[in-house]
Amino acid sequence: MKEKKQLKIGGIIDGVGWNYMGWRHPDMPANASENIDYYVQKAKRLEEGKFDTIFLVDVSHIGPGMIPHYLSMFEGVSILSALSMVTHSIGLTATIATSYADPFTVARQMASLDKISNGRAGWNAVTSNPGGLANYSRTHLSKADLYPMKKEFLEIVEGLWDSYEDDAFIRDKESGVFYDHRKMHALNYRGNYFSVDGPLNISRSRQGRPVIFQAGSSSDFMNIASKHADGVFLPADNLEDAKAFSQELKRRVELEGRSFDDFLLAISHNPIVGQTEREAEEKFQELQALMPIYRIQKPKLFGSAEKVADQIQSWYEAGAMDLLLIRQEHPLGFDDFIDLVVPILQERGIFRKEYESNNLRGNLGLPYPENRYSI
Ligand SMILES: Cc1cc2nc3c(=O)[nH]c(=O)nc-3n(C[C@H](O)[C@H](O)[C@H](O)COP(=O)(O)O)c2cc1C
Repeated sequence: MKEKKQLKIGGIIDGVGWNYMGWRHPDMPANASENIDYYVQKAKRLEEGKFDTIFLVDVSHIGPGMIPHYLSMFEGVSILSALSMVTHSIGLTATIATSYADPFTVARQMASLDKISNGRAGWNAVTSNPGGLANYSRTHLSKADLYPMKKEFLEIVEGLWDSYEDDAFIRDKESGVFYDHRKMHALNYRGNYFSVDGPLNISRSRQGRPVIFQAGSSSDFMNIASKHADGVFLPADNLEDAKAFSQELKRRVELEGRSFDDFLLAISHNPIVGQTEREAEEKFQELQALMPIYRIQKPKLFGSAEKVADQIQSWYEAGAMDLLLIRQEHPLGFDDFIDLVVPILQERGIFRKEYESNNLRGNLGLPYPENRYSI
């Protein structure tokens, strides 16, 4: 059993919503997915709710029939850089696919976001859908390449983030010593997919390096995540599945010689909450009425705030969820959750009333990763 940390909560801001009809709601700007004012407003609201992190999902190829959010949206690191300037404590996590990006660029981009935000960056590393191969000039590769490629990608990014030891930069104007060259390390990585010399030209941040999340479900996914992730974003519709994932990941994380206490299981939910069951039902019907040809399912977390808080508590206490990622189904979903459910979770001592730390690792209760060359 894990040593119990408080529950962690993140907010997935997906513009007009992760459904077909949300954009038509009177309270939703129809261009929310490309509207920075909307993102700023939501980011500030999540920070008022003491959420651990903003979490942005992504897509690598689109076509007709996809949800409106995917059809016209911002790129994640760009939004998060802007949001870093209007927030102070909340984490900033972007999804970037290892199948399509370039490892040197991602290492540099994420390390820059980490320094710009004073240690609040997170990266959700996904393989993504193979459909993206055609957008990123990689049609010579196939689905079977994606996990071997991801393994190399992560080894490179982690290696590049250790390019400089923590005390490498002296910047002493008097003596003229800018840095200690013995504390700069090249990587010289040679793989089947990538070849990267390094070093990376940016020093480590207040939290050492960005937090690494990974999303997926297969055995290959779990093998790589057990070694190279601080947390995983899992598909789990029910508590039994989540518990089974948790047990299997525990086994694999411990096989890597790591403590499972330092590993977070993230599950997403799209609660519809009201002061009463009836109010939640009205919100659900309001959404359904926006586009009667598409039906959405009633979410798992549904009903009065008290009932939703009970459900969250049972997942958390079963060790099946360390980080709850909230998505808004209804355009006021974050507001309802923050106003109605968060105070109950705080009252029960499950969720924080104040941020504990000034960086993402600190708030998530993750240890500081020592530079491999300093140990
Ligand atoms: C919970 C969860 C979240 C995911 N989020 C994204 C995402 O934001 N963008 C993306 O391109 N793929 C996303 N994926 C897809 C994965 O990257 C991966 O392509 C897919 O799960 C297939 O790998 P698997 O067989 O290991 O599950 C997600 C998958 C899961 C399970």
